[in-house]
Amino acid sequence: MPATIIVGGFWGDEGKGKIVAHIANTEKPRIIARGGVGPNAGHTVDIGGQKFGVRMVPSGFVYKEAKLLIGAGVLVNPEVFLKEVDLLKVADRTRVDYRCAIIEPRHCEFDRTADHLKKIGTTGSGCGPANVDRVNRIAKQAKDVPELKDFLTDVPLEINSALDKGDFVLIEGSQGFALSLYYGTYPYVTSKDTTASAIASDVGIGPTKVDDVIVVFKCFPTRVGAGPFPTEMPVEEAERLGIVEYGTVTGRRRRVGYWDGELARYSAMINGATQVAITGIDKLDRECYGVKEWGRLSQKAKEFIEKVEEDVRVPVTLISTGPELSQIIDMRKEKL
Ligand code: GTP
Ligand code: IMP
Ligand code: MG
Repeated sequence: MPATIIVGGFWGDEGKGKIVAHIANTEKPRIIARGGVGPNAGHTVDIGGQKFGVRMVPSGFVYKEAKLLIGAGVLVNPEVFLKEVDLLKVADRTRVDYRCAIIEPRHCEFDRTADHLKKIGTTGSGCGPANVDRVNRIAKQAKDVPELKDFLTDVPLEINSALDKGDFVLIEGSQGFALSLYYGTYPYVTSKDTTASAIASDVGIGPTKVDDVIVVFKCFPTRVGAGPFPTEMPVEEAERLGIVEYGTVTGRRRRVGYWDGELARYSAMINGATQVAITGIDKLDRECYGVKEWGRLSQKAKEFIEKVEEDVRVPVTLISTGPELSQIIDMRKEKL
């Protein structure tokens, strides 16, 4: 699996952060690169009682030997980036492509106040307005920001030369399939395509270089902000099932729904999935909390996973059984 891309299959918040961190720790990539929109994302990494919500630094930072790169397609908010790099103590191994477009305070201000954006329920992180400036060719780039001087690099050059040497490179996306500007529930979407091909382009590798695409789905899909959600359940039902969630970036309550096999199949198709990861199986059946072997899953959970495989027509190789990093069933060796 020299170049593996990990993306979200539904409306984001599928638990990509945890899956990326698990693969980083087990496969020891030389480079972990981040594609996707920008700091609208909030990836949670929960490890040994410590919980991190990262918005700019790749979630694979927990594996300490990897170089951490932010691809040219990603929007950078220098303030958020510098704070995170400092907090996580990763300044020596984190680099930003010099062509990344920059989010400025006026972008955040507009994102929070424009009526049409309020209706969509954006994260208010300035991403949409900054991408507008980028398309208008008036955005600043990372190379124009003095505070980022020590962090600049050419991300595609670094990744492609690592791949040429046979090194493993892990590439993480953000948001999810149904938030894609092209394929999602337009206009209730984010400001870019979010599928695996876009993530490859964000970090500067060609489609022929991608070996594996892992699409992450959560057992009960969630959505924050407005827009269609065909399998949404009533709030009371989510409360009764004890599966209420809140956003990592905005703290907003996430809308919750039932598994959507049709959407999952379409998403796996457009992403070119080679593997699927399922998170939150403990929410389907409490008995599965923290389980680390397939054989110990309940019948209900096993039947659910079999149904997922029928829906997506790709093997489910990773099953997350709780928020902590070690709570996972990894079947990549048996299934591939
Ligand atoms: P975006 O890039 O913003 O789309 O985020 P993400 O996909 O990294 O997911 P995020 O961290 O925002 O949300 C997932 C939430 O589910 C976090 O609070 C995780 O700690 C939690 N989580 C991940 N896997 C599991 C799991 O298997 N079971 C349970 N109960 N929680 C999980
Ligand atoms: P924006 O990306 O901030 O413009 O928000 C557009 C839509 O995408 C809104 O519905 C947001 O709630 C949603 N969104 C953006 N990023 C994320 C994310 O990381 N997780 C979940 N939803 C997101
Ligand atoms: Mg999130």
